[in-house]
Amino acid sequence: MCPYKTPRRPEAKPQFFRTQFPNAPSLLRGRRMRFFSLFLVSLIWATESVPLRLQQPLGGSSYLTREEHWLSQTLDHFSPTDHRQFKQRYYEYLDYYQVSSGPIFLKICGESACPGIVNDYTSVLAKKFGAALVSLEHRYYGKSSPFDSLTTENLQYLSSKQALFDLAVFRQYYQESLNAKYNLSNIQSRWFVFGVSYSGALSAWFRLKFPHLTCGSLASSAVVLAVYNFTDFDKQVGASVGAECKSVLQEITALVEEQLQSDGGAVKNLFGAAKLKNDGDFLYLLADAAVIAVQYGNPDVLCSPLVDAKKNGKDLVETYADYVKSYYLGRFGSSVQTYDQQYLKNTSLGENSGDRLWWFQVCTEVAYFQVAPKNDSVRSSMIDERYHLDLCKNIFGEGIYPAVDMTNIYYGGTRLAGTRIVFTNGSQDPWRHASRQTSSADMPSYIIKCHNCGHGSDLRGCPQSPLNIEGNAENCTSPEAVEKVRKQIVGHIDLWLSECQSTGPDDDEPSSVLTANSLVSTL
Ligand SMILES: *[C@@H]1O[C@H](CO)[C@@H](O)[C@H](O)[C@H]1NC(C)=O
Ligand SMILES: *[C@@H]1O[C@H](CO)[C@@H](O)[C@H](O)[C@H]1NC(C)=O
Ligand SMILES: *[C@@H]1O[C@H](CO)[C@@H](O)[C@H](O)[C@H]1NC(C)=O
Ligand SMILES: *[C@@H]1O[C@H](CO)[C@@H](O)[C@H](O)[C@H]1NC(C)=O
Ligand SMILES: *[C@@H]1O[C@H](CO)[C@@H](O)[C@H](O)[C@H]1NC(C)=O
Ligand SMILES: *[C@@H]1O[C@H](CO)[C@@H](O)[C@H](O)[C@H]1NC(C)=O
Repeated sequence: MCPYKTPRRPEAKPQFFRTQFPNAPSLLRGRRMRFFSLFLVSLIWATESVPLRLQQPLGGSSYLTREEHWLSQTLDHFSPTDHRQFKQRYYEYLDYYQVSSGPIFLKICGESACPGIVNDYTSVLAKKFGAALVSLEHRYYGKSSPFDSLTTENLQYLSSKQALFDLAVFRQYYQESLNAKYNLSNIQSRWFVFGVSYSGALSAWFRLKFPHLTCGSLASSAVVLAVYNFTDFDKQVGASVGAECKSVLQEITALVEEQLQSDGGAVKNLFGAAKLKNDGDFLYLLADAAVIAVQYGNPDVLCSPLVDAKKNGKDLVETYADYVKSYYLGRFGSSVQTYDQQYLKNTSLGENSGDRLWWFQVCTEVAYFQVAPKNDSVRSSMIDERYHLDLCKNIFGEGIYPAVDMTNIYYGGTRLAGTRIVFTNGSQDPWRHASRQTSSADMPSYIIKCHNCGHGSDLRGCPQSPLNIEGNAENCTSPEAVEKVRKQIVGHIDLWLSECQSTGPDDDEPSSVLTANSLVSTL
């Protein structure tokens, strides 16, 4: 899920731009640094975070900060003998911070490069609570890759479990660095963790696995359940677009399947996707193009022209091709090549590496295979279990398939035994079926219902892409629905922070500040 990428990932695709790497930090320390390459010293690709990747380049106000900071991170948290390190990027924003008494809000970055702290609703929350805002880039993505060659072997340390440990180490490291900055000794701030999509799942899992390190979590559109055959995804797309639009999309799928049989080259050309030799890759592009409209709160951009074309007897495949080219590949900024398995096999770190990286997480840990349901599917039935397993094998090699059961055993899926976690879902979001189903006092869950409420509406407003500064919700078809859930969120943060203050995450010894090293050795 961030999330950002094509909808195959919970988050859509990041925008890439070249940037000069500033005073390149020494990539890796430790005895074994010679085993790492020095790719970071040269120019590398950085990315915009996805929901933002639309029409206009992001203005200055889209980010609270883009000033990079670095910490030295352990490559393998689970090995007793491997002490290699890599450089991990993070950001801090202290304008709202009430020194020493204010909490620290950790906004987790997910499955894409993290070029800064985005100015969404968390900045309103930070202002309200006098919080410091910090963000850590997810290992491997953006500039936080330990390797410049993304071979399957080198990807073995890419997992949510390692990422959670990164967050724990970062949390200790940052507390110390903030204490040092303000000359505060023996302060343990109250932390609260935030995330949307895959990073929403990380947010819930962080509270689950490291409850002593955060007072609570917001898990927005959090995909905490690893799903193998994720047929509910397509069903939700059908439900979100509505019966009329759904039947036009189904007609288009049938027509395209026919045309692939008679003249595949011509129909691929029509979509500007002649490069895609594999019909499954092509059909996936077409499926995702519809998904993105409901996932990010722009259902009418998709459905109005289609329903209109149907009424007026226009060519449906051509109408859809126009939408795919102008919106999905155009304004939204996805690209055809990221559907090309040939391209996904490329192991060089570079533009769009995020697609390969997320597929690795999909193919090993979480699946979320967006297979066509047996009946009434919007997408082509050629997008099935076999397509996904073949893709995993083709791009990563023999023996790579997702250990979905292990993931759900490790975290608990929708039955995770957490406390003080708020779950939120957007009613139109196809990902919501991988989120938590029920609400309880300790893990309240809210659904935000409106026509354009998709992925992360609580933090992003509507649509969810492009960015609404401070998550402005005025363009949600029901702004009250969003504001109501926001009030609930504020109430939970307020309560849990106050409970945390009185009992404390380290209530036994509130004055002891663990160092990252002592943390690691005590765990
Ligand atoms: C930091 O705090 C210590 C102990 O309270 C004090 O001695 C020192 O002068 C302070 N340093 C700065 C730069 O404020
Ligand atoms: C996934 O779906 C396929 C096709 O319906 C089926 O053969 C397979 O058993 C399913 N796998 C799981 C783990 O449910
Ligand atoms: C692989 O990706 C790198 C970095 O984006 C690019 O320079 C290279 O041309 C690609 N190789 C192939 C075979 O496409
Ligand atoms: C298949 O879907 C259609 C349309 O939603 C529905 O009317 C029909 O009952 C479904 N058939 C089965 C076997 O579920
Ligand atoms: C979150 O989404 C799931 C899946 O649609 C739904 O079952 C659940 O009811 C939602 N949560 C709440 C509290 O509505
Ligand atoms: C809401 O929509 C109106 C009309 O399209 C637009 O002018 C305005 O900028 C939008 N507001 C936000 C916060 O995006």
